[in-house]
Amino acid sequence: MWKLTLFLAIWVPISFCFVILEDEFLYLHKNGICNKPQFHYEADNSEEEFAVFYNNWDGLQLPETRFGDQFTSKYSFLKWVDVFYGTLGGHMFSGTAVPFGMCKMGVDVINSKKGDAYSGFQPDGEVVGVSLLHESGTGGAPTYGVVSQLPMIASSASSVDVTRQISFKRKSPDVAHIGYYKVELDNGVDIEFSSKDRSGLYEYTFPELKDNGKPIIMVNVSQHLHSFGRPWWTQNFRSGQIKVSSDLKSYQGKVTINGGWTDPGEWTVSFFGKFDKPARKVATFRNGRTLPFLRRMQSYSGESDIGVLFEFDEDTTVLKSHVGISFNKNEGVKVAAQNLLDDYPEDSQFDLTWSVASALESWNDKLFKKFEMNVNEEDPLIISKLYNSLYGTHLMPTNKSGAEAPWDNGEPYYDDWFTLWDTFRCLHPLINIISQDHGAEMVRSLIDIWEVEGFMPDGRSGDRSGRTQGGSNSDIMLADAFIKNVHQGIDWEKGFQAMYTNAEVEPPYIEDPMANDSTNKFGRGALKEWLELGYITRNYSRSVTRTMEYSYNDFALYIVAKGLGKKDLAKTYLERSKNWRNIWNPNAKSVNIHYDYTGFVQPRNSDGTFAQHRYDPFTCFGCYWRDDEYEGKPVEYGWTVPFDMKTLLEYIGSKAMFEKRLDDMYAFCGHENVVDIGNEPSFLTPYLYAYINRQDKTSALVDWIINTKFKTGPRGLPGNSDAGAMQAWLTFALLGFYPVAGTDIYLLTSPKVNYLKLKSMPNVPDIEIFAHNLYSEFGVRNNFIEKVVINDKELDKNWFRHSELFEHGGTIEYYMSEKPLDWDSDKECPPQEFSV
Ligand SMILES: *[C@@H]1O[C@H](CO)[C@@H](O)[C@H](O)[C@H]1NC(C)=O
Ligand SMILES: *[C@@H]1O[C@H](CO)[C@@H](O)[C@H](O)[C@H]1NC(C)=O
Ligand SMILES: *[C@@H]1O[C@H](CO)[C@@H](O)[C@H](O)[C@H]1NC(C)=O
Ligand SMILES: *[C@@H]1O[C@H](CO)[C@@H](O)[C@H](O)[C@H]1NC(C)=O
Repeated sequence: MWKLTLFLAIWVPISFCFVILEDEFLYLHKNGICNKPQFHYEADNSEEEFAVFYNNWDGLQLPETRFGDQFTSKYSFLKWVDVFYGTLGGHMFSGTAVPFGMCKMGVDVINSKKGDAYSGFQPDGEVVGVSLLHESGTGGAPTYGVVSQLPMIASSASSVDVTRQISFKRKSPDVAHIGYYKVELDNGVDIEFSSKDRSGLYEYTFPELKDNGKPIIMVNVSQHLHSFGRPWWTQNFRSGQIKVSSDLKSYQGKVTINGGWTDPGEWTVSFFGKFDKPARKVATFRNGRTLPFLRRMQSYSGESDIGVLFEFDEDTTVLKSHVGISFNKNEGVKVAAQNLLDDYPEDSQFDLTWSVASALESWNDKLFKKFEMNVNEEDPLIISKLYNSLYGTHLMPTNKSGAEAPWDNGEPYYDDWFTLWDTFRCLHPLINIISQDHGAEMVRSLIDIWEVEGFMPDGRSGDRSGRTQGGSNSDIMLADAFIKNVHQGIDWEKGFQAMYTNAEVEPPYIEDPMANDSTNKFGRGALKEWLELGYITRNYSRSVTRTMEYSYNDFALYIVAKGLGKKDLAKTYLERSKNWRNIWNPNAKSVNIHYDYTGFVQPRNSDGTFAQHRYDPFTCFGCYWRDDEYEGKPVEYGWTVPFDMKTLLEYIGSKAMFEKRLDDMYAFCGHENVVDIGNEPSFLTPYLYAYINRQDKTSALVDWIINTKFKTGPRGLPGNSDAGAMQAWLTFALLGFYPVAGTDIYLLTSPKVNYLKLKSMPNVPDIEIFAHNLYSEFGVRNNFIEKVVINDKELDKNWFRHSELFEHGGTIEYYMSEKPLDWDSDKECPPQEFSV
């Protein structure tokens, strides 16, 4: 707490950001951006449970670790990334991982007052273990949290009380940075850990033991994350086995779990663990009872738990353990052991410092070295937001190519798509610029899943496809890669066939209690209606969401069909993309008097009439599986047609009305916030002012969102990270442009850094971004665009194409202005109509 107070006291007089907010709103007011400016800034909520980087938004307060400054001096990004960023509310994973790595090693807690531990971590509650598999930033229900160890002290392994779940409170808040984590338990044991792609390393420090205490490590094979809040989606332990080596130095086995958000099928993960010294004794437990030592144990269905307690010599102070994991179906244990060897060379096997250094090098190589800037000349708050965002965009989906893939056909394999509904909008477009090597493999993996299983997934984890919230958004993800020339190794004919399956083949019915009218597993539920009627009726759940998204999905088919020279198909799908018009009701009205205009999307009954019952364009009622709209109001979904803006503008009637309606979506100009900024359906909406030549408003609005909705620290994210979708949104907002997913179009906003060089990007040449005159002589940030110059040519549009900047590289220069200018009023708007 004191840190924050002290810090603010020093900070305020020299701050850009606090001053800027008020000034900016004054400008908005004076210059007619808003009639009723509203200013509110919520400060970070301090939580005493966080040590470390809590409030580290100046990038100066690195946690003290055993490494001194050996890593900070080499990796300047280290001090900017707070691994607890977005953990509260954003469900961010806080442990150790490498970019897109399978192993995400982190603390698992129960009994948190803050609710379910989606990624294992909560700052409060009790620690039940440190495990090797997690998701990051997801909603739905907690996933994974398996293959764990928990250290404790007891007089002997067989004396440990296993009748209840063993857990410990922390002695002090966790300390961590990228690649390194430390948790101090109140039983006196400190756990430090680090991990690599498919294995992790534990280092335990035991206190000096008295009263006959012995160091004990519990390997609870059954351990996994539960959902207490949504028990219908909780994971369950199905079966497990474990075998201890005769020298008591290693163990191996596997665990099978079912349930979870994706679908009720099962998945199995194998493990191979090793200690740096042999145990002295071992006890086993099953169903809450300690058993005499058995070297081999297998659980049977219906059993609640099995595990092993390893007891070590009492003079053991430091104990290390190394665990590899594998999803390989046939030789899981063998592959897990091999993964360990691949990740850690023989002479570095138990070397935590080496492991941390190696993880940091991966992050540098795969991500941070691509961003070159002079951080000392930038606003530290912006740099902190940028680096934290970047980190969050390279955790998922996970690269399980090779022996981890569920089949062996040589194609890349990625899992943990959680979910494309969230990530197609800007996470994949970001990956398609900065990490195209992964981007191409992700596309190949989706196509390969289609080839083997019949459909591409929308959500997937534990090698099981499951849960489509709206459309088949893999279509848009593929189109985005296609049009941005992400071609390495991709068979686009097959890719189109996979999309064609989504568009034309009704997925098999699989019952889902959340909404049993049609399938939610993959493909497009209720496709028959789409094909026959050109919209989804209220006979099916999520009829508005599905209609809007199927339109966008079909537009994605048009993009790829056209690019492949399939003219007829391109025509068909372009026509079908216009189907959203079928649910536009020009007479639909809000009951809210603030919004006294007509014309919105509206669900239709099976007889074709617009549904009046339970309809208000500004409400989505339950906003969930059985409602007309999923996590978004009709008025939000109405904007999601970047491929048919001319029609939307016509429907709305005039540019002035279009502008008013956009203004009404955000609280920054009065009323309440209509859109949920922390959720995906409205990600593109702040940028739509480009279509009416009011780019200045986008700059103002995006700036307002960056300043007021995104913060630093654990509550830094305005909603679930959703596998990095939220951070990808922020990344683009800070860079100064935003992708229209599935097209080659970027819409402009004002960059927040003076200079940034994007370099060492696979297949994409270097790009330099300049924001001239970004700060006034008083250090106030200029948030408006005067003009934009790409490769020495002034832009005659308020948008640009991928090829203009990313094909040959070069520079994009923004000239900034203190006041909003109508710089784009005579410029060309983004394409509003498409043709074959
Ligand atoms: C092992 O984990 C299972 C599942 O989380 C739990 O029910 C059980 O109580 C744990 N056993 C011990 C001894 O902690
Ligand atoms: C994905 O993982 C495989 C197997 O480890 C590896 O060969 C490949 O290079 C990885 N992809 C990228 C882009 O790093
Ligand atoms: C769907 O669930 C409802 C009630 O929960 C039930 O009445 C109906 O028969 C179910 N329909 C199908 C197709 O399973
Ligand atoms: C919609 O459901 C009703 C009954 O619930 C049924 O009579 C009707 O045929 C269905 N309409 C369509 C278009 O499937």
